[in-house]
Parts: sequence; structure tokens; C-alpha cells
Amino acid sequence: MKFRVVIYVIKLGVLCSGRGTDLQSIIDAIKRGDLNAEISVVITDKPNVPALERAEKAGIKNICVDRKNFADRADFETELLKNLEGVDLVVLAGFMRILSPNFVRRYEGRLMNIHPSLLPSFPGAHAHRDALNFGVKISGCTVHFVDEGTDSGPIILQAAVEVHEDDTEETLSARILEQEHIIYPQAIKLFVEGRLKIVGRQVKILEV
Ligand code: GAR
Repeated sequence: MKFRVVIYVIKLGVLCSGRGTDLQSIIDAIKRGDLNAEISVVITDKPNVPALERAEKAGIKNICVDRKNFADRADFETELLKNLEGVDLVVLAGFMRILSPNFVRRYEGRLMNIHPSLLPSFPGAHAHRDALNFGVKISGCTVHFVDEGTDSGPIILQAAVEVHEDDTEETLSARILEQEHIIYPQAIKLFVEGRLKIVGRQVKILEV
């Protein structure tokens, strides 16, 4: 009797808006063999952004779904969903748009985001500026599942970063970004290994 072992590889769909360094950290983790997953598609909401080039260079299917070409968010998201068909986990990597409750529900428990602050502090589009203005001594980054609020979903991993007296948005964001590039692939790896269990607001990390 012959056995055939079929190993299923988790498929990621990565959504980006610009530079794509978080995307790059995921591409690199897969290349190094640290993350057993496959990026099926990279989608951006803007044309000619570096994230598209990074995907192209890595031989990954990449598509721009230009928000400007759609009358409303519903039409835009219909096109996103079409291009995400077959994807197991949607990864928001610097995707600077709020997704509708309809989209979020569709991928409940399978939609992750990274945010450059220690949530629940400083949600929104200006996390570094808000952290500096508030005068916190420690900031950092958070990987979380996306829920229907803004940066409010169950937290998977966080990394802390010291804020220096002479920090600017640029210097602080550069140090936080280094941590983002470590914890995002780690969080995805935990998902791939089936080790994340959402219990209410909490994410339990299961032992192997
Ligand atoms: C990252 O700092 C990420 O945390 C942030 O955008 C940057 C994207 O950088 N995301 C958000 O602020 C989402 N609210 P990248 O394009 O180089 O990956």
C-alpha cells in the first residue's frame, strides 16, 4: 500500500500601502526557512509603490487595486476579496485603510495587523507623533487580530522600545520598525502552527 503525504502550506495575502518593509520581513523569514508559509498575493491600494517592487523581485504575484478607481469602499473591497480568494490569512502590513465590518467579519480570526505603538495606547494614523507628544518613556509595536474597531482587536505579540529625549518621529519609528520586523513574522508563525487561540479579548499562545 502506498501512502502519499500531503503537507498543506498556509497561504498569506499581504495588503500594503507603501514602502513595504514589514512585507519584506515576512518574505525574508519565509526565504530563511523560519516561517513555513507562502505569500499567494501582495495587494496595494496605490500604484507604483515599493511594496509592489519588493513582491515582484521575490517572484510573488502582485496587484494594485487602486482605491481611486472605485466609487466607494464596498466596490473597492469586493475587488480586494476577489483577489484574496483561497488565502488563509490576510496580513495588513502598512495598509493605511480602515476595512469595513463586512470585510473584517469575513476574515474573523484570520486578519492580522501591525501597529507602531503599544496598544491600546496611540491607535490611529499618527502613533509615533502621538507617543512623542504625550511624553511616554516606552513605546513599541503590536501585532493584533483585526476587529471592527480601529487598532482595537485582540493582541497577539508586542515589543517595547525605549523613547529617547531627543527622538523625532523618524528616529523613533526606525527603532520601532526593527522590532516590527522581528515580531510580525513570529506572530504569523504562531498562526501557521495553530498556536493562537482567541478567548474573548485575549489571545492565548498554546504550547507545542
Ligand atoms: C509600519 O510602521 C506599520 O506599523 C505602520 O505602517 C508602517 C509601514 O511600514 N502601520 C500602521 O500605522 C497601521 N495603522 P512599511 O510600509 O515599511 O512596512
